[in-house]
Amino acid sequence: MPHAAILAVASYLPERRLTNADLERLVDTSDEWIVSRTGICERHVAAPDESTSDLAAKAGAAALARAGVAPAEVDLLIVATSSPDMLFPATACLAARKMGLSCPAFDLSAACTGFIYAIGQATSAIESGRSRTVLVIGADVLTRLIDFTDRGTCILFGDGAGALVMRASEKPGVLGVHLGADGSGADLLSLRAGGSARPCSVEALRDGDNFIKMNGSEVFKFAVRQIPIVTRQALQESGLTVDDVTWLVPHQANTRITATVAERLGIPAARVVERIADVGNTSTASIPLALDALYTGGNLHAGDVLALVGFGAGLTWGAAIVTWTGEE
Ligand code: UT7
Repeated sequence: MPHAAILAVASYLPERRLTNADLERLVDTSDEWIVSRTGICERHVAAPDESTSDLAAKAGAAALARAGVAPAEVDLLIVATSSPDMLFPATACLAARKMGLSCPAFDLSAACTGFIYAIGQATSAIESGRSRTVLVIGADVLTRLIDFTDRGTCILFGDGAGALVMRASEKPGVLGVHLGADGSGADLLSLRAGGSARPCSVEALRDGDNFIKMNGSEVFKFAVRQIPIVTRQALQESGLTVDDVTWLVPHQANTRITATVAERLGIPAARVVERIADVGNTSTASIPLALDALYTGGNLHAGDVLALVGFGAGLTWGAAIVTWTGEE
């Protein structure tokens, strides 16, 4: 059976930045509150003519270039997103057109855990022999789905995209993936309008159901409870323990969540990747953005063991344990 290895990581951030000072002018908040409660200083916002497929295509093309893989070699494209360009066609198809890919392409919806679910799907496709080269992208433009009068959500989210090129390999890359979901927590974080349950309507707009609604403190409690559990499950299935982890790369939702999780796992802060201050919570893009920062900072080396861990709406959660085999 072939292994699934990561050849390259890359990311893309829109140019425009939204600082905490900008938000102070929109809602009753302060830079001090946002930094101390979340760790976020600024986030990036897509230009008016940019949509999720544009960000996805830019990150995907950058990852292919870094891997030295031609578009024609890609035989599967998965785009994890919660903010697709439209309900259909899939954002993956729109991004594929922009990158010049002609392969099966689909969107994966698992909210902020989407990137881990996508790694799981890509790994299965490669290990089964069905695909050889898979492009996995996480892209979100959540600022289009936020109520900028709701200080509980507008301070958190930013736009961005990140991508991995994965390929069949003789050397082990992805060692284990553990995923979970519990729909009983569906109401804690959702965007209700625009689907079949609540189509777009004047009433839906009047109720603000076209915006993200979140019970922040309950999601926080779920995250700090569930991430250590799923990380340990994925490590156990990989035959490893927390001591083997070179880098813990958690979904970047709140620096306090990351710190609590690291403490509960007994992983020192020096081995935890933090990439929230300049990008905010970018949902499906947050893990590859953090990984790309590690890579471009020269801190990712062949043989490093990565614990990539996500959580989000659904509720969903997941962890992927990976040995880095890509370029240094
Ligand atoms: O991506 C995956 C999904 N999302 C998450 O993982 C988010 C998880 N949750 C969080 O990150 C945090 O819950 C938040 C950052 C959203 C909120 O932080 P918190 O420490 O849980 O605050 P809270 O909601 O418990 O509110 C504490 C206080 C309240 O005031 P009172 O009632 O104590 O007077 C809020 O009204 O802070 C107030 N508050 C704010 N104050 C200034 C809430 N948001 C703000 C704000 N600026 N932006």
